[in-house]
Amino acid sequence: MSAPLLDVDGLTLAFDTPSGVVHVLDKVAFTLQAGETLGLVGESGSGKSVTALALAGLLDARGRVQARRLRFQDHDLLDGHGAPDAAAWQALRGRRIGFVFQSPRRALHPLRTVGDQLQQVLRVHRGLKPAVARQEALAWIDRVGLDDPARRFNAHAHELSGGQCQRVMIALALAGEPDLLIADEPTTGLDVSTQARVLDLIAGLAAERHLATILITHDLALAAQRCARIAVMHAGQLVETLPSARLRDGAAHPYTRQLLRATPQSAPTLAALRSVDGTLPDLTRDDLPACRFAERCEKADARCRRQAAPFTPVESRHTVACWHPVHAGQPSLALAA
Ligand SMILES: Nc1ncnc2c1ncn2[C@@H]1O[C@H](COP(=O)(O)OP(=O)(O)OP(=O)(O)O)[C@@H](O)[C@H]1O
Ligand SMILES: [Mg+2]
Repeated sequence: MSAPLLDVDGLTLAFDTPSGVVHVLDKVAFTLQAGETLGLVGESGSGKSVTALALAGLLDARGRVQARRLRFQDHDLLDGHGAPDAAAWQALRGRRIGFVFQSPRRALHPLRTVGDQLQQVLRVHRGLKPAVARQEALAWIDRVGLDDPARRFNAHAHELSGGQCQRVMIALALAGEPDLLIADEPTTGLDVSTQARVLDLIAGLAAERHLATILITHDLALAAQRCARIAVMHAGQLVETLPSARLRDGAAHPYTRQLLRATPQSAPTLAALRSVDGTLPDLTRDDLPACRFAERCEKADARCRRQAAPFTPVESRHTVACWHPVHAGQPSLALAA
């Protein structure tokens, strides 16, 4: 397999807060190939958004990020002390890595028109001259399926619906022609048919441009349907990555199995995921178990609490961090094929 587009190892994040240190991410590791779609899933608070923000160098100064390896294409994104190199990130953001955020309306500039914001991306990241940038901005407005491009060009965020804002965000994220798109809950708050259209749009544009995508979602069924591979997070730890096709009866981590049991075929899965037994541990604790799922896991023993299980290959492109993985062939769920 060729060198990965994105290679993350030992990604750790802690926040300094007035009430102490929050140990959010713990040694997150994964790779992404060019053109690959990865679904990053987990309950609310499991660290999906901060992983994306840490990867993009977008956390504020209270977030302390460290990593063993952080590479994008042939760029090393760490400074000499294992922290992300702000200047190296700056050069990639927008141009090589595009973002769609959890709340599009807030991510759009309230006072600047859609056309203005798009033209800026096109000028800064693609070096287009103003007249060309204007034509290209109109073309992007059309490409993301907004009607009447000339009118939308002059619109502000407050004049657009949630779905329209999301489309503008997608245009802004893709106009710089990145190689990686990170989309954080891109369809939260949209009605079901708009959700499907927005996801189809992302998938279509990604396929056309051989764009790698990280789709962050609560919704395991949706991730399995839309992504070739799934990465499962629990309480700031990545516990398993596996091809979507193996989810149905190949999931090896007890937490992935629990998520699957809590994911009916077509449920409002935010509620469904809440039905996983127990709650996420308090990340301000100094005595967090090595496996942060240990206190919710029926298989856990003293070793799970004491010593982190290494990421171990189960099969091709399938790895799990667990001392007691479930063996393949034990079907566990009612997930749509
Ligand atoms: N600026 C911050 N300061 C302190 N803690 C933070 C900060 N931002 C996030 N956290 C904590 O980091 C953890 C992970 O948060 P994150 O927003 O990444 O979760 P998530 O998986 O994206 O959840 P959701 O599905 O609700 O979007 C949470 O415990 C959260 O409280
Ligand atoms: Mg989030």
